[in-house]
Amino acid sequence: MKKVVLLALALCAALPLLADEGMWLPNLIARRIDDMGAKGCRLSAEDIYSINKASLKDAVVLFGSGCTGELVSPQGLLFTNHHCGYGYIQRHSSVEHDYLKDGFWAMSREEELPNPGLTVSFLERMEDVTDVVLYGWEPSMGEVARDSVARANSQRLEKEIAEPSKGIRASVEALYHANQYYLFVYRIYRDVRLVGAPPSSIGKFGGDTDNWMWPRHTGDFSIFRIYADADGNPADYSPDNVPYRPKKFFSISKEGVKEGDFTFVYGCPGSTREYVHSEEVRYIGEVSDPQKIALRTLRLDIQKKYMSQSQAVRIQYSAKNASVANAWKKWQGESRGVQRLGTVEAKRAYEKRLSAWAAGGPYDGLVERLGALYQKREPYYLAYEYFNETVRSIELLSLAWRVYGLLERGIDDGVAVRSFFKDYYEPIDKETFVALLEAFRTKMPQQFQPEYFKEQVAAAGSVQALADDIYSRSMFTSCEVAASLGVEDMPKVVADPAYQLYAAFFDWLQEDIMPVLREVEGELRTANRLYMKAQMEFEPEREFYPDANLTLRVAYGNVAGYSPADAVYYTPVTTLKGIIEKDNPDIFDYNIPQTLRDIYAAGGHEDQPVCFLATNHTTGGNSGSPVLNADGLLVGINFDRVWEGTMSDLQFDPCYCRNISLDVRYLLFIIKQIGHAEWLFSEMVIK
Ligand code: ARG
Ligand code: ASP
Repeated sequence: MKKVVLLALALCAALPLLADEGMWLPNLIARRIDDMGAKGCRLSAEDIYSINKASLKDAVVLFGSGCTGELVSPQGLLFTNHHCGYGYIQRHSSVEHDYLKDGFWAMSREEELPNPGLTVSFLERMEDVTDVVLYGWEPSMGEVARDSVARANSQRLEKEIAEPSKGIRASVEALYHANQYYLFVYRIYRDVRLVGAPPSSIGKFGGDTDNWMWPRHTGDFSIFRIYADADGNPADYSPDNVPYRPKKFFSISKEGVKEGDFTFVYGCPGSTREYVHSEEVRYIGEVSDPQKIALRTLRLDIQKKYMSQSQAVRIQYSAKNASVANAWKKWQGESRGVQRLGTVEAKRAYEKRLSAWAAGGPYDGLVERLGALYQKREPYYLAYEYFNETVRSIELLSLAWRVYGLLERGIDDGVAVRSFFKDYYEPIDKETFVALLEAFRTKMPQQFQPEYFKEQVAAAGSVQALADDIYSRSMFTSCEVAASLGVEDMPKVVADPAYQLYAAFFDWLQEDIMPVLREVEGELRTANRLYMKAQMEFEPEREFYPDANLTLRVAYGNVAGYSPADAVYYTPVTTLKGIIEKDNPDIFDYNIPQTLRDIYAAGGHEDQPVCFLATNHTTGGNSGSPVLNADGLLVGINFDRVWEGTMSDLQFDPCYCRNISLDVRYLLFIIKQIGHAEWLFSEMVIK
């Protein structure tokens, strides 16, 4: 341990240039391969990405529309996270078969469960198509023309390449703030079946208490299998389909990892903003995050109060609570992280230098113009974010608006209403209404408040009185009444006080906020493109990686602990012993299955590894990504970051930014000990 710890600390103090920052394009990985080698990697660039032969990229997929997955057998077996498979596991669950609670293990292919709507996308190839996309455009034509030329050419190219009958989809993506365009060609499979999932008490162990935290002990995995037609092509679900035979799958290492080992993450990071102006970072870190955190704290406190009083309410609100809490916690790490790093000040100093360099040239005044645009945007954008975090987050108002939309489209079967009420608890919602709209009333400047809202509050006397009035009069508080509404009831809906309040906010948003916002955002897009270009010319020696946009990337680094606070050092590997330490039948998040207690008590598993930390640069979307060792063997499955490092979406810091992975050996342990699904081992290659 010692040597590496010292190295990690030295890195923090003095050598930020050695940071493991970056989400690199796999087709250009040759440019990084020497650096990867210096950190311990033994693979060639061709091993990682090749269009001539099967390479590791052929074993990585976009799972659904926001996670990553990896192939682990010649029979189409796939690993991803439990939280990525969650919705599908839930859909197969009922009171008789609660797969979320008890886990699910197919004992043969026949028992695997189909998931309509779930797809996995393989990347066939990627290439720079900037010339094609900008064909017909010249700088003299201006930026608006550039956008429309790019859009038209992209659409034509995508159409030319797509082969819907073969599941081939093409997508042109803008990189470097649209200074470059890349074509991504995917092959999309749509018969993907659930093979196995641990009980939530393992797959979600630690729940939201441990989310974004270390030490972590979550067995966050689920197992699926991809099926194809007899020729290996994508096909709709059919019992005649056969397991997909991938070009490549990962072998699994049973050697594990230790501090200092090289690892890389191959996956689909969703979104980062590494090259933006100081004003955007200031807004996020000092305005947006704190305001949204405060609003969500109000919601979470109300939910917690009622959830702790009733088991039924806890079940109703667990998924909602998890999603509110997830971003709430991330924003706290992000906001504190950019403050601690001094990101805004550092960017201002950089902008000053760039601005001096730009004087008299094509980028003269650009930095200042960007700053002014962000300032112009700020009150409008904040109002927009406030609308989302308040009005749209009040369940009764959103239901009224949604029902109106459904009736408008002639849908009056009441299905959406009934599923809404299954997980609705009015006392939570009404208290949330009061807390959120009181915040809106007191925090939003007068000129950013809809007149109707001001009048209603004035007429009622207070936000609380307005809530009393709306929740007693609205027909949307009753499931039966709301579910029975038909198209002919539209006039009644329009007269409903819950609908009226939402509609007033919506009109205000469309009329007073969005026109300015759209215009400024358009100007910002162009200015940001030029600013990115300016930065690349200003620092010709620097290797810029494009911001994440859910396209395939490679991030690499080493297994490492970190120091979250003075006098505290976290080592990077957790074990089963830690699960037993946290185990508590009285705390929902820490109540493990009795079988796991028994297995532990029988002895011999104290040192069973569970999770590990590394310095790979990851973000949302990287969940489920394969974590690979120096030889490209699977050692882990990425599922989270530590909250102190979540500012990595804006600025990466080698001291605090750590990705959290499940140790693949814990997955094997659970398959065997809890699932008794050893039949799956025979198709894996475990070295
Ligand atoms: N923080 C992780 C991510 O952003 C995991 C979220 C799911 N887990 C949870 N306890 N809510 O996706
Ligand atoms: N938990 C995230 C995901 O689901 C990963 C992250 O933000 O680090 O993609």
